[in-house]
Amino acid sequence: MKALITSGGRGTRLRPLTHTQNKHLIPIANKPIIHYAIEYCAEAGIKEIGIVYNADSTAIPDALGDGAQFGVKLTFIPQEAPLGLAHVVKISQDFIGDDSFVFYLGDNMVVGGLKRFIDEFEKNQSNCHLTLARVKDPQRFGVPEIVGQRIVRIEEKPQKPKSDYAVAGIYIYDSSIFEAVNNIKPSARGELEISDAHQYLLDHGYKITYSEITGWWKDTGKPYDLLEANRLVLDNLQEKNEGQVDENSLVTGKVVLEKGAKIINSIVRGPAIIGKNTVIDNSYIGPFTSIYDNCLIQNSEVEFSILLERCKLIDVTIRVEHSLLGNEVEIVKTQGRPATNRFLIGDQSRIELL
Ligand code: G1P
Repeated sequence: MKALITSGGRGTRLRPLTHTQNKHLIPIANKPIIHYAIEYCAEAGIKEIGIVYNADSTAIPDALGDGAQFGVKLTFIPQEAPLGLAHVVKISQDFIGDDSFVFYLGDNMVVGGLKRFIDEFEKNQSNCHLTLARVKDPQRFGVPEIVGQRIVRIEEKPQKPKSDYAVAGIYIYDSSIFEAVNNIKPSARGELEISDAHQYLLDHGYKITYSEITGWWKDTGKPYDLLEANRLVLDNLQEKNEGQVDENSLVTGKVVLEKGAKIINSIVRGPAIIGKNTVIDNSYIGPFTSIYDNCLIQNSEVEFSILLERCKLIDVTIRVEHSLLGNEVEIVKTQGRPATNRFLIGDQSRIELL
């Protein structure tokens, strides 16, 4: 079994973060989202993984290397234009050959790994095994119509969904999927839709089975999804202290302090992770917060937030909560009169004053 992981797309709903960074490299609990996908595949015993990336940027190959750090071999497959998920499968046919494979959308996160789905695919001798998750807004997803225990139809982003399930971004195929992706036509939005490939398999008598994801699954498309995924991953983290905590500080709950992290005269209430060489000084860090490397939090409070590299919060008297800060963001309170707010903010940033 091989795996194919996507890492393309424009991440428009995560702007401005995605103006400068591929969304798959945004860290959740201080680890890039796409690492989770690779680790799930490695854990399931898969050794050969293809990563499909936007041909106009080498950020993903540069960041991931040859895969040795994950114990797998990575092969990078460029996609020239965003022509749909079925197109991603189509251009990967040479890499996959006659093997079965897991097709994994690199921005999806799931607790509990992939092994159970692969076992079902093999046990049922399926041509295609889908994972389904119950959602509030099926209109945003591929949606199955289920009669008895069988999927009879799959529609992409239907206005009137036939169930409250989304087809999650983890699929397992044998090579019959190539017949499907080579025969379907582009949709109205000009893409080869993965749901149309699934419908092709159904129409041509191939066997599609499914598992329901009953734990949690997230497609990290929007800022709040990232915070939620961060919360859930932090909840499952093992505490670890490779940093320093002075005697005036209080660190409680599941907290990971990475190498060189310093907690001075502060309260850190887990679950939380504090990155390498980050300094927390006279501050409060509340639950479900991930602060990446080389940040400085001084005389400030942060909770339920993700901060990327080299951020600075200094003398911020109102608590920063439910927030996502990109690399090198500074929020600093300056002294003196007049007491005004002064902003230098990039395109498509959003500030809520509550
Ligand atoms: C894609 C698929 C959709 C699937 C979803 C899962 O949608 O087209 O069928 O349900 O991923 O994350 P997209 O996120 O590209 O809109």
